[in-house]
Amino acid sequence: MIKQAIIPLAGLGTRLLPLTSVFAKELLPINGKPGIEYIIDECIEAGIKEIIFIISNKMIKNYFFNDVFFKKIIKKKKDKRIIREYKKILKYKKMIKFVYQNKPLGTGDAVLKTKKYIKNDYFLLLLPDDLIVKKNCSKAMISVHKKYKSSIIASMNVSKKNVSRWGIYSIKKKIDKRNFLINDVIEKPSVKKAPSNKAVIGRYILPKIIFNNLSKQKAGKGGEIHITDAIQSLIKKHQKFIGHNFTGKYLDCGTMDGYIKSSLEIAKI
Ligand code: G1P
Repeated sequence: MIKQAIIPLAGLGTRLLPLTSVFAKELLPINGKPGIEYIIDECIEAGIKEIIFIISNKMIKNYFFNDVFFKKIIKKKKDKRIIREYKKILKYKKMIKFVYQNKPLGTGDAVLKTKKYIKNDYFLLLLPDDLIVKKNCSKAMISVHKKYKSSIIASMNVSKKNVSRWGIYSIKKKIDKRNFLINDVIEKPSVKKAPSNKAVIGRYILPKIIFNNLSKQKAGKGGEIHITDAIQSLIKKHQKFIGHNFTGKYLDCGTMDGYIKSSLEIAKI
């Protein structure tokens, strides 16, 4: 049963400067709606009951906990749209928990901060830079997880020249058209060292035991603690990981170019 999701939101967002010098990047609107709301909606539709946000400051928390402000405005204006938006935020708020990551030490370190809150054997991790629209990727991954009783990573074929932007994995065995048993995964390899063109995209169904690896995990590429490296050490200990080539449309909101394109693409849906 996958009922909990975690979302790291404490990154510096340097790829989106100067916007992120003031804003949390996940609150930046994509076609009029903060990026984080697309991710929460994906979780809700996939049957997630609790979402743990890993934050570094109060901005995102304030967005969801601005009740006094909303109540005052609604009392004065009785605007239907505002009432609708406030109700939506109240619904989100009920399922969100916050933990802090005060230093940006990497995705692996962020995940480790949630250790004591994870109840079941598996949980969902979503990286908010990656929007996947048209088809619910988390929901599809949860069905693959149920079928194969395995950890799952979302994946996509990328062009060989871009491999160093992603975690890249090699295939041990093709299970079916969309699912591949993973042999190795490596964080942002050079074109020369990349074992394939299968990129890791920011949706993971991870086993609770990964916390043991994370607490011992040394910093890797760029001096950060990567979730990719913890996954690789689990694979080496014979934990089964499946790469799932998802069918939805991928939008990379973590770069300025991708962020601009995302609004245009979502407006077309
Ligand atoms: C992270 C992961 C990387 C993965 C990517 C997907 O990188 O470390 O393995 O391929 O997300 O978006 P980041 O985007 O944080 O640099």
